[in-house]
Amino acid sequence: MSKDLWSKNSSLQGGTLNLAGITAAQLAKDFGTPTFFLDEDAYRSRALAWQSGLQSHFGSNAGTVYYAAKSFICTAVAQWIAEIGIGIDVCTGGELAVALAGGIDPSKIEVHGNNKSVAEIDRAVSVGVKTIVMDSLFEIERVADAAKKHGMRQSVMLRLTPGIEAHTHEKISTAHEDVKFGFSIASGAAWAAVEAVVARPELELRGVHCHIGSQIFGVEAHEIATDRLLAFMAKYRDAYGTELAELDLGGGFGIAYIDGEKTVEPEDVLPAIHAAVTTACAKYNLAIPMISLEPGRNIVGPTMFTLYEVGTVKDVALESGTVRKYISVDGGMSDNARTALYDAEYTAVIAQRASSAPLALSRLVGKHCETGDIIISDIQLPSDVIPGDLIATPATGAYGRSMASNYNHVPRPPVVAVKDGKARVIVRRENEADLLALDVKE
Ligand code: LLP
Repeated sequence: MSKDLWSKNSSLQGGTLNLAGITAAQLAKDFGTPTFFLDEDAYRSRALAWQSGLQSHFGSNAGTVYYAAKSFICTAVAQWIAEIGIGIDVCTGGELAVALAGGIDPSKIEVHGNNKSVAEIDRAVSVGVKTIVMDSLFEIERVADAAKKHGMRQSVMLRLTPGIEAHTHEKISTAHEDVKFGFSIASGAAWAAVEAVVARPELELRGVHCHIGSQIFGVEAHEIATDRLLAFMAKYRDAYGTELAELDLGGGFGIAYIDGEKTVEPEDVLPAIHAAVTTACAKYNLAIPMISLEPGRNIVGPTMFTLYEVGTVKDVALESGTVRKYISVDGGMSDNARTALYDAEYTAVIAQRASSAPLALSRLVGKHCETGDIIISDIQLPSDVIPGDLIATPATGAYGRSMASNYNHVPRPPVVAVKDGKARVIVRRENEADLLALDVKE
């Protein structure tokens, strides 16, 4: 299996998966299964690589790397972000609360969301977040009202829809016209939003933003977005005589999930983004604004694997005459909803032993009462997989634990950070008491 799928301190030798000096068997013994194991060092270096890449390509025009909290956040990770010194993009009051609990300075926080509540807006304004990204005309009024109430001027950005069909799954594509996010440039909604912001003296329009989609490979979509947003910034300059300070191009940089895919590294895209910005700024006679990005998946995705234990194995005869091995593990769609939601593809290995058995057509499934509870639809795994084997699925750091549910009252798995031969829980496993905690007895 390609090394690209595993975090930098993981190795798979002689059938034994090892993370930062600890074997999968030992990790399972100490922390149980299913568990997300996070390579802390890999997380920090991926975050830093975006930060230093932005610095080296844009110099004094380097804006902020806002880590997209939705991909995965907990208090410990927020503490790492505060230490590393990058920013964070939060899109709910809950994510804001975790960012603050981790000690992230509000001046590094950018607030997103297409339907922020009045209470969420009030909290964001009152703690002094760096900027709030506007997604509707109603919201412009609400943020201005909150700023007025707190006697301050709030920096805001406009989320624009540049009308791009990014080549990714429909449900994670966000910048074509028919979506709930942002203000369309083409329809004139974006310009109406500019006028609405300018009309409220409590708001300071810092710049424009777009997020074109997620799990994107190649740079074409980001290049087109860059041109369209800078053209819009030029229109603003022409109308108001001043230039906007910041252009935030969002996240979306893809990662490898299966053999043959390659994780996008900052160096793969930043030169092209830099060229696109420089070309468009020259074309529209604009000074280069501060350039910001919001990678989520690309930072955290490759840094975790999920470790499961096999509970049962069943051979099912297919109509075609072949047999499919159903391998059931102790988690499933509650810790990895992505296969069911987006037909996402993953791969898996036996993590604690070598096998020379012939490969068999297998399906990795969970323990939920649902046919669609599939982690990997089709995979060739050794035919001797048995109950008690440990199975690891790499690249589950993004939108795994963060989208986990309690379906069937299955407790959500913990996240264990591993670094230099030491492992520690950073999100503990849910237990029965947690599951019952919200219920009100008659
Ligand atoms: N910025 C904004 C405004 C976003 O909406 C998102 C993701 C990001 C940044 C980060 O995108 P990333 O770099 O992680 O691709 N649950 C889906 C992905 C949904 C992404 C939503 N927005 C999945 O599991 O594939």
